[in-house]
Amino acid sequence: MLHVLDHPLAAHVITHLRDKTTKPATFRTLCYQISLLLAVEATRSLATEAKAIETPLEAVTGRVLTHQPLVVVPILRAGLGMVQPFLDIFPDVSVGYIGLERDHTTAIARSYYCKLPVVTGRRVLLVDPMLATGGSAVKAIDVVRDQGGTDITLISIVSSPEGVAEVERHHPQVPIFTAALDRGLNAKKYILPGLGDFGDRLYGT
Ligand code: PRP
Ligand code: URA
Repeated sequence: MLHVLDHPLAAHVITHLRDKTTKPATFRTLCYQISLLLAVEATRSLATEAKAIETPLEAVTGRVLTHQPLVVVPILRAGLGMVQPFLDIFPDVSVGYIGLERDHTTAIARSYYCKLPVVTGRRVLLVDPMLATGGSAVKAIDVVRDQGGTDITLISIVSSPEGVAEVERHHPQVPIFTAALDRGLNAKKYILPGLGDFGDRLYGT
């Protein structure tokens, strides 16, 4: 199931991320902001429970998050730029890492690193800013599933229809949250209009 973030602030941030004149320092701030919006949207379904408290004026029953361990897993390297807002709003979150890199000619992702905490019985939030062919996301979901993860959410900033279709074909039960659904891919499998190479723009390489 695809969820596209629909918020004026998201549109504003995405436009500045796309702008080729945006420099890495600003790009990183914008990446933080859009990831925070996505973190909020993608966790709408978290369970809450009643909690009786007293305000300075009277007793009231509010709601708090039910204890439910979350795991955020960035796909290296560009996914690293999306992690901090998850740490900021979910203080008990665990972090795992999956390293994947697309080959420049074939666009096929090669795995070079994996370090995951326990994922069984936990909600896993897989973060990667670009969902292009979908090859990286499918590989990362495979890895989490192989280690026992069943509750997986994919969060991207810009997606292509091809990438969404590929993830849905392999993992139809994984919800996808994205801030923009773009037109398609070019011959080199870059998203159009896209924003170029996210990792390069994030880290000035
Ligand atoms: C980018 C991006 C995704 C992948 C998406 O990473 O961050 O991981 O490409 O493309 P796909 O959907 O076609 O697999 P890249 O391989 O460029 O590595 P990097 O994050 O280290 O720059
Ligand atoms: N990876 C990126 O960083 N950008 C794209 O457009 C596609 C893959």
